[in-house]
Amino acid sequence: MLTLGIETSCDETAIALYSEKQGLIAHSIHSQIDAHTQHGGVVPELASRDHIKKILPLIQKTIHDAQISADEIRGIAYTAGPGLTGALLVGASIARTLAWAWEIPAVAIHHMEGHLLAPLLETPAPDFPFVGLLVSGGHTMLVEVKGIGDYTILGESLDDAAGEAFDKTARLLGLGYPGGAALSQLAEQGNPERFVFPRPMTNRPGLDFSFSGLKTFAANTVQNEGLHFPSNLSGASKQQTRADIARAFEDAVVDTLIIKCRRALQQTHLKQLVIAGGVSANKTLREKLKRTLESLGGKVFYPRQEFCTDNGAMIAFAGYQRLRAGQCDDLSIKARARWNMEELTVP
Ligand code: KG4
Ligand code: ZN
Repeated sequence: MLTLGIETSCDETAIALYSEKQGLIAHSIHSQIDAHTQHGGVVPELASRDHIKKILPLIQKTIHDAQISADEIRGIAYTAGPGLTGALLVGASIARTLAWAWEIPAVAIHHMEGHLLAPLLETPAPDFPFVGLLVSGGHTMLVEVKGIGDYTILGESLDDAAGEAFDKTARLLGLGYPGGAALSQLAEQGNPERFVFPRPMTNRPGLDFSFSGLKTFAANTVQNEGLHFPSNLSGASKQQTRADIARAFEDAVVDTLIIKCRRALQQTHLKQLVIAGGVSANKTLREKLKRTLESLGGKVFYPRQEFCTDNGAMIAFAGYQRLRAGQCDDLSIKARARWNMEELTVP
């Protein structure tokens, strides 16, 4: 079965083709980051308009790159939520329309299920069951995964998502949007001893997270050190202070995530950890988690770097799994800004 995947939940138009026999055969992405950076964040209306412009040419390009003909496609998977409603509606309408015209099924995919299953595109892939750590710009959660659609949320962020905290702190340090990757790069030159940030909610039981206090801690440190972006960041010592703050912030987020992952593995008696979503691209997090899981006699699985952030491959793959298992959605166009993963069912 050849499945076309369509992702338009936020600021990336992404398309992929997943083949039952050959695996992933083509994928394309158009990022809108340049259009949104000047506004310091994603502008929903601009996102929807750009998806409309880019989606059909990108589908044509992906089919061309895969050297297939459109009539070989047997199913379509589209991101139906969570995300920006207008952006989701573009992908959902196109997916449903093409499915109608080509007389094939289309399935609505939960964006975070896409992220969660992305490491299954790699070799070796994890087996079910496993614990998933989903860390993106919109979500931070720990999920017990027994199989496709069988998800129990073990804990989640009560306020900012990890990626959101990275982006807000990056902004305080005068880095562009989204600033997670740039902050991480800056942190590499930072002195880990100079500032110590708290590890929120680790001194009490439970698997929930809270990251908004870390951003405030960073803001206070920036102010105490006399770094007033954008006017007062020049000079070598100020540059070093920025790097030191970035380092303290990254270490605090990474340590917090690791402490909660250890707890989740203990609680579920599982040995495999899957980490996905934009923040899973973070080098320090990947390295430290690898060492932690090795010390526990377990193993950690990640998507390749380009599939950590939003992409079409994860949606095509999740859709293929659901279509193969016999899921067949009705003809409605589904777009849900909010959608609890636990509502998903086993196909
Ligand atoms: O999964 P994603 O592409 O979009 C959402 O579904 O939200 O995640 C984007 C988030 C942004 O907050 C971005 O700053 C963060 O992932 N991110 C990183 C890194 N690369 C991307 N955060 C920390 N370190 C990175 N290397
Ligand atoms: Zn995402």
